Amino acid sequence: MKKIVVESLEAGYVFSVPVYMDADSLFIAANVPLEQKDIDRAIRWNVSEVFTEGEIIDGPGIKRAKGNEEHGQNMSGPRGGLSERGERNGGEGGTLPPEQEAATYAAITNIIQQLNAIFVLIERRQFNVNRRGRQINAISEGLSGIIQNGSMFAVSFVLNGNLAGYPLAKNAVQTAILSTLVFQELSSNKAYNQELLLGALFHDIGMLRLPKAVAEKKGQLSDLERELMQTHVVYGYQIARQELRFNEVSGNIVLQHHERWDGTGYTQQIDGAQINIGAKIISVADAFEAMVNEKPYRNSMTGYEAVKNLLSDNSRRFDPAVLSAFVKIMGIYPVGQEVLLNNGTMARVIESRQQAPFRPLVVITKEKDGTPANNEKPVDLLNQPSLYIIRAIRKQKE
Ligand SMILES: [Fe+2]
Repeated sequence: MKKIVVESLEAGYVFSVPVYMDADSLFIAANVPLEQKDIDRAIRWNVSEVFTEGEIIDGPGIKRAKGNEEHGQNMSGPRGGLSERGERNGGEGGTLPPEQEAATYAAITNIIQQLNAIFVLIERRQFNVNRRGRQINAISEGLSGIIQNGSMFAVSFVLNGNLAGYPLAKNAVQTAILSTLVFQELSSNKAYNQELLLGALFHDIGMLRLPKAVAEKKGQLSDLERELMQTHVVYGYQIARQELRFNEVSGNIVLQHHERWDGTGYTQQIDGAQINIGAKIISVADAFEAMVNEKPYRNSMTGYEAVKNLLSDNSRRFDPAVLSAFVKIMGIYPVGQEVLLNNGTMARVIESRQQAPFRPLVVITKEKDGTPANNEKPVDLLNQPSLYIIRAIRKQKE
């Protein structure tokens, strides 16, 4: 196999045989012109080399592949690449006890319902911080505990949970789960983590002050409606600071969560480092959550598609450092993602590997003939070179 440095590739190259990123993960098929986005994606995924037995047969100013080494131990990434999160939650072999998964789902559902009850009071202007402030702390601490004790299950809930109703509270809790995990990847500042969690849980609270016809509109917004919609961050800041008595940091997280990295967001149109890190994290988490959860006006994406979509941002909307932390957390195939394997069986990802994102730990869920697998047996794709993921499977519509 020839090793090709990704940075030496150019859009337009055509190969005589397939090129692979990983031991068996296809980078580009034979006779298909390479596109710049394929190269950019590999770079973003930290794939520095690709492998092929063929030749470049067409393309601009053809460069030959650098090096001619046999690919070896680094093809599948280092062994033992389990993340710290995985070791805490999955332990040896990474199996997911179904009872722990069910308990985590139930606990998150309970948190969503509690938060929804607070939202109802805020909407009716009946929230009294002196009487109910402690409930918010209990929700935030409860969610924090769930994330620490079972981050894999919490991510799996975001991808696979099918709780009906409570759209605002569900989005808030799911965004808070993802935001907390991303922040923990970037920093160990516990105090800020709490402020971020509160900001994430109440980031869209200002929507409750908008006319329902605008806040819940399914189709395209008119210019006036869009202007109204954008005021939700200001209302949110006021509610956070005055009604909930959040500190300035949490308030600013709410206020800035629609600002963009390139300064084209709203409402202050600040950019880059001027934007609160928590707001930048929520921006990514909220976008991902919206993509994987079905909205009335379009079908949901798979986690894989959503991660790819975020990565195509090209540093316009999102902070690249935050995006990179997000991809690390989620893996290429996030935990909970259903995938089709090349032997025709279906599987669910139960452990992402930061070092080998194309070779996660999975459990077989359906046999080749579509019947449910007898025992959900874990399969480590890192140890099964002949078995690989063909594609992610879209969530079934209920
Ligand atoms: Fe928002």
